[in-house]
Amino acid sequence: MVVSSGLRLDSPQAARLSVQVAAIAPDSTALRCLDWDRDRFDIEFELRNGTTYNSFLLKGEKIALIDTAHAKFSDLYFHELRQQVDLEQIDYLIVNHTEPDHSGLIADLLAVAPQITVVASKVAMQFLQNQIHRPLAAQIVKSGDRLDLGRGHELEFISAPNLHWPDTILTYDHGTQVLYTCDVLGLHYCDDTLYDEQPTRLEADFQLYYDCLMAPNARSVLAALRRIEPLPIAQVATGHGPLLRHHLADWRDRYRTWSEAQAQTTPFVALFYAGDYGHSDRLVQAIGQGILKTGLAVELVDFLETDIPTVRELATSAAGLVVGMPPQDRPELAPLLSTLLTAAHPGQTIGLFETGGGQDEPIFPLRNRCQELGLTLGFEPIAIKAEPTAATDKLCEEAGTDLGQRIQAQAATGPRQRPDSALATGLDQALGRLSTGLYVLTAQRGEVSGAMLASWVMQTGTQPPGLAIAVAKDRAIESLLGWGDTFVLNVLEEGQSQRLIKHFLKRFPPGADRFAGVATCPAPNGSPVLAAALAYLECTVTHRLEAHDHWIVCATAGAGRVAKPHGLTAVHYRNSGSHY
Ligand SMILES: Cc1cc2nc3c(=O)[nH]c(=O)nc-3n(C[C@H](O)[C@H](O)[C@H](O)COP(=O)(O)O)c2cc1C
Repeated sequence: MVVSSGLRLDSPQAARLSVQVAAIAPDSTALRCLDWDRDRFDIEFELRNGTTYNSFLLKGEKIALIDTAHAKFSDLYFHELRQQVDLEQIDYLIVNHTEPDHSGLIADLLAVAPQITVVASKVAMQFLQNQIHRPLAAQIVKSGDRLDLGRGHELEFISAPNLHWPDTILTYDHGTQVLYTCDVLGLHYCDDTLYDEQPTRLEADFQLYYDCLMAPNARSVLAALRRIEPLPIAQVATGHGPLLRHHLADWRDRYRTWSEAQAQTTPFVALFYAGDYGHSDRLVQAIGQGILKTGLAVELVDFLETDIPTVRELATSAAGLVVGMPPQDRPELAPLLSTLLTAAHPGQTIGLFETGGGQDEPIFPLRNRCQELGLTLGFEPIAIKAEPTAATDKLCEEAGTDLGQRIQAQAATGPRQRPDSALATGLDQALGRLSTGLYVLTAQRGEVSGAMLASWVMQTGTQPPGLAIAVAKDRAIESLLGWGDTFVLNVLEEGQSQRLIKHFLKRFPPGADRFAGVATCPAPNGSPVLAAALAYLECTVTHRLEAHDHWIVCATAGAGRVAKPHGLTAVHYRNSGSHY
């Protein structure tokens, strides 16, 4: 049975949003929200063929919904869902991951159906509780946990962190052999063909999706593929694009081949943690995000799900190690930790953290031991004993970035690196003749703030006033400059800028308040205005473009003020194009 609702392409005024409803297996129905015109994803990812957000309804003796859809589908989605089920009868909502395009309707759903128990990974549940701001019935699941819906539909959850969101799980129905993967093996392709009968139409978008979303986490892709290997899979019900059934082995092989190639060429950091313990999974995700910003790959290794040979192999081959202190009362983990320390070797960079589980192995003796082994500390040990917050997430992310930058800096000074002769001569000098102004970019999001001295700034339009700023991918402020985020661009004044430049160029420890000792007041958009700025602009990010080692952050300026009408902007002259 395939049913579609909503306005379609054939009408000139069509909303170009529609919902396709189709039975995919016994008691299993897909509700595919077709977004025919969406042309951008994750701000920097251009779409050629729209996308879909796929949600699934399973009716055993208990009823479960797997993921929802983008908030823009609210009316269409709930209309179709009500045709299929009385919302008050739904027992579970399984959240494979919390990215808004799949979770955008969760708050609305729970408002009308508060009896629903939300099933998700621990990290996902924390994100959801922050998003929804209301008590919810929660069931946290980890790899291997099962949920029996009755009538043969026994669901098993498989953790797949970082694919491509930190909190991802996959859901496998043992009754129908359908694997619900959300983003994994998905593609942005909008069409009302339910399945992958015609792979040649799909393969370019399948690869683009892999390259943009999965390739940075190739090692995590391989780990997830290993986890699903033993399962007999009849079809993969993805969260985007068509479901995969006709060429499943081929799609999986492509993921494996691309990921193996990627994993061989990108140095990686292995992050070891005890998944079920304290807040270690949230901390390790945030540290991992910070490492990814530096261009290194990450591999998350749960002490509770690994074995000695895997630990030995990873700890030997990783460029860096991060260890979350495991609980002392789990003696079976001690051999894993000692294998790790035996395999670790000088030249590697290490970071340690404590999670607040209350029983952690002592961190400082381990730090001393690592230093005796000749390992370099990537960041000072982190101890987060209380409930993690956005501020502690940012601290962990910045610590991860510090560790990644140390590894990259070591690689850059290694014997194989030679200066690029073109850059060392004319090209470098000619680039250095490009001059700019000097600015301090400031941003505040809730309790988290950031600041950066910037010179690669230009106006890009007048109606509306547009700006573009090149922000290195590993800047701490980068994660506060996503689509829709607001910031302030402070213009520095000639002759008055040295103190501020010196201040903002300090190497700040992870989580430090970059405004301590600097006079500021909040702009109407909440970001700090420097009291000594010549002028400032309040800006909103509209999109970002990828430019090798920088993001080009494009924004519109909504308001601005000049403090000294006759003041001059500080100008930045350089000699070399290889530095700011
Ligand atoms: C004169 C000058 C101009 C700079 N301009 C930029 C810029 O436009 N974009 C950028 O990403 N970094 C720029 N930087 C580098 C950052 O300001 C600096 O490294 C940063 O504050 C370090 O912050 P982090 O801890 O967030 O990496 C500039 C540095 C200097 C000295």
